[in-house]
Amino acid sequence: MNTELKSSLGLATWVRDLANAGGTGGLNWHVHALRSLNRWLPTRERIAQFLASIETTQTHLLLIGPSAGWMLPTPWLARFKQVDVVDIDPLVPLLFGLRHGKVLREHGTQLHFHRQDAIAGLPQLLREFPNACVWFDNVLGQVSVRLGDEDIAERQLRHLKLLLQGRSWGSLHDVYSGPTDAAMALPEIKTVGFKRLDNADEDTAQVHIDGKPQLLSVAAQGLLTALNAKGVWHDHATAGVFPSKTSTTLIPWAFKPHYWHWLEAGWVRP
Ligand SMILES: C[S@@+](CC[C@H](N)C(=O)[O-])C[C@H]1O[C@@H](n2cnc3c(N)ncnc32)[C@H](O)[C@@H]1O
Repeated sequence: MNTELKSSLGLATWVRDLANAGGTGGLNWHVHALRSLNRWLPTRERIAQFLASIETTQTHLLLIGPSAGWMLPTPWLARFKQVDVVDIDPLVPLLFGLRHGKVLREHGTQLHFHRQDAIAGLPQLLREFPNACVWFDNVLGQVSVRLGDEDIAERQLRHLKLLLQGRSWGSLHDVYSGPTDAAMALPEIKTVGFKRLDNADEDTAQVHIDGKPQLLSVAAQGLLTALNAKGVWHDHATAGVFPSKTSTTLIPWAFKPHYWHWLEAGWVRP
């Protein structure tokens, strides 16, 4: 490929990622996040509680897809001496810096930004940062959106845990999302303890919901009912992200007033 064509393709990607980062971030995301911060507060508090409960011995964090860290608690970031932020969105260094930079500087936490595809480039990032723990910050549920193919996304996502073997790592990601019934009272932001017991398909898979065994299909229906789901809901193909038997926390998220998500937060130790 000649240099001129290469640089105009690079510029086109830069502009596309500035606008919407493959449908998962960018300017669209920042405007929506900024306007939604109050509505998201209960969910942000549950995420902060989850992260506060994680014991990490590492002083280095590899932070993947955090955007400006709209939903991330600064005190958790300040636990680390070094944070390497990887996101495809060109606005991230500026906006993440504005949101968290001052407190992190005061705590002596060094921030480094990398603009690259962290999913495709994960093996290389893990080699580059051998002692870092890893947090996927609501990015893995977007893989199916970016790829436009749930099956390929699910295979890619199942494979990640193999690359991460021997690491301390965690993820917050979408599990389901969809419209809710505007005529009903707003659902409670009540977290649910969750555990997948096997990797079987949805009809036969067994899970624990708040410690009680259930079929995944029954549990999923219960989760949707708890949020007054209406119409068609999207499965984000994240069922295989964590190794089976990992205890996780499901957190409701009022992404828009009548469009909610179930998020899953979990942490895996080597
Ligand atoms: C839903 S947003 C994350 C929101 C974030 N948790 C927050 O608090 O604002 C998803 C982010 O992942 C980034 N992203 C999507 N795919 C990516 C990839 N393959 N590599 C790196 N970043 C990616 C997007 O640019 C976007 O900033």
